[in-house]
Amino acid sequence: SIYADSDEASAAVAAQIANLIRTRAAEGKPCVLGLATGSSPTRVYEELVRLHREEGLSFQNVVSFNLDEYYPMAPGSLQSYVRFMREYLFDHVDIRPENVHIPDGTVPPEQVAAYCRRYEEQIKEAGGIDLQLLGIGRTGHIGFNEPGSGPASRTRIITLDHVTRTDAASDFYGEENVPRRALTMGVGTILEARRIVLMAWGEGKAAVVKRMVEGDVTDSVPATYLQSHPDVQVVLDEAAGAEL
Ligand code: GLP
Repeated sequence: SIYADSDEASAAVAAQIANLIRTRAAEGKPCVLGLATGSSPTRVYEELVRLHREEGLSFQNVVSFNLDEYYPMAPGSLQSYVRFMREYLFDHVDIRPENVHIPDGTVPPEQVAAYCRRYEEQIKEAGGIDLQLLGIGRTGHIGFNEPGSGPASRTRIITLDHVTRTDAASDFYGEENVPRRALTMGVGTILEARRIVLMAWGEGKAAVVKRMVEGDVTDSVPATYLQSHPDVQVVLDEAAGAEL
């Protein structure tokens, strides 16, 4: 769907999430959300906070799994995704802290592989992801699955692409301060979500959006693997959809 602007689009995505949370709650079931960071989902989170405050939307039945985290990264750092999620969502709603999962950027290197396997198990134990929110990087990454990530990839440690580190430079006051690695759910992990909503805004994303939607499926643009998923929505503003 292409919307006139990202505010309108974000409100529609938030309404869809709220609807899912309420439907699952009415069934007495948890709602498992896969959450993303970056500038793309911020207005969705702001709208969810508004729905919590003004319309009584409860997050008591929500279980969340974030896609990724820089590595290494202390949770208290300005740039950590823990801090991001608290600032935009978790500190403002009634989600249970024990239901929140974000890859831990402090795990010692020798424990990373086991930690990533455990993250996957936790998703399975929660019943799998009902709805996965995604942004897209200019390299075609989803989560931090950079070019070269295949459709069977699982949660793991990856090396960030140069383009991604350039794009993150302003957050870190210089590219030299951007971590070289990250923990991310794999493409395979993401594809197991029952519903996927990918958002992209602005002209800077138009070229990669075109490759994702119209290009051949290839690990040089990992987002193209979404073409094989049965329930994906690509939510764009006019600028991001301009090349379609
Ligand atoms: C980071 C995140 C991705 C996100 C991407 C796009 O790399 N790890 O999950 O999709 O940035 O960011 P933005 O939404 O700010 O354009």
